[in-house]
Amino acid sequence: MKAKAPKHSETIMTQIVFPNDTNPMGILQGGRLVHWLDTAAAICSQNHAEHICVTASIDSVKFKAPAKVGDIVTIKAKVTRAFTSSMEIFVQAWAKKVLTQKEYLINEAYFTFVAIDDNANPTQVPGLKPSTEKEKIEYQLAEERKLARLKV
Ligand SMILES: CC(C)(COP(=O)(O)OP(=O)(O)OC[C@H]1O[C@@H](n2cnc3c(N)ncnc32)[C@H](O)[C@@H]1OP(=O)(O)O)[C@@H](O)C(=O)NCCC(=O)NCCS
Repeated sequence: MKAKAPKHSETIMTQIVFPNDTNPMGILQGGRLVHWLDTAAAICSQNHAEHICVTASIDSVKFKAPAKVGDIVTIKAKVTRAFTSSMEIFVQAWAKKVLTQKEYLINEAYFTFVAIDDNANPTQVPGLKPSTEKEKIEYQLAEERKLARLKV
């Protein structure tokens, strides 16, 4: 299987925060945001693997700032490393105020997705070929993060 560039599967997903997505303060619910992150990461991993992929773990989820009703939320998901059947996906989300166009980071998280075959068994995925300096660093660190999360 030929290794793929992270760019190949990089996924950008946009949502708008509706009242039904929020708590009584009008702030986007954490669970709803994680659902959106999971969806973007699933699309990203499946485009890399060319297989159905399932969420194996979510870690280092950081809620850095709130998003409010009417904000536009942009989510970016990118594969940092592909192992044998699993892939680590780094997901970031930004909220933008429509009137000022001010955009700020609201969340970061690491997802692990596993590619599965027709019998729901893990199956091999293509490798990842990082090219930028940042992608190469993330690729190296992903090995340590994998070991740490499997130890828990
Ligand atoms: C994820 C799942 C497919 C792994 O299956 P398994 O038979 O336990 O697989 P293995 O132990 O052989 O591991 C397969 C890969 O998954 C990874 N993995 C397994 N559990 C993991 C976890 N908790 N966190 C991160 N990675 C994990 C392994 O490191 C391995 O990666 P590699 O092949 O790249 O080295 C299986 O546990 C499962 O189906 N879980 C439920 C998934 C689900 O319902 N998600 C929500 C809906 S999408």
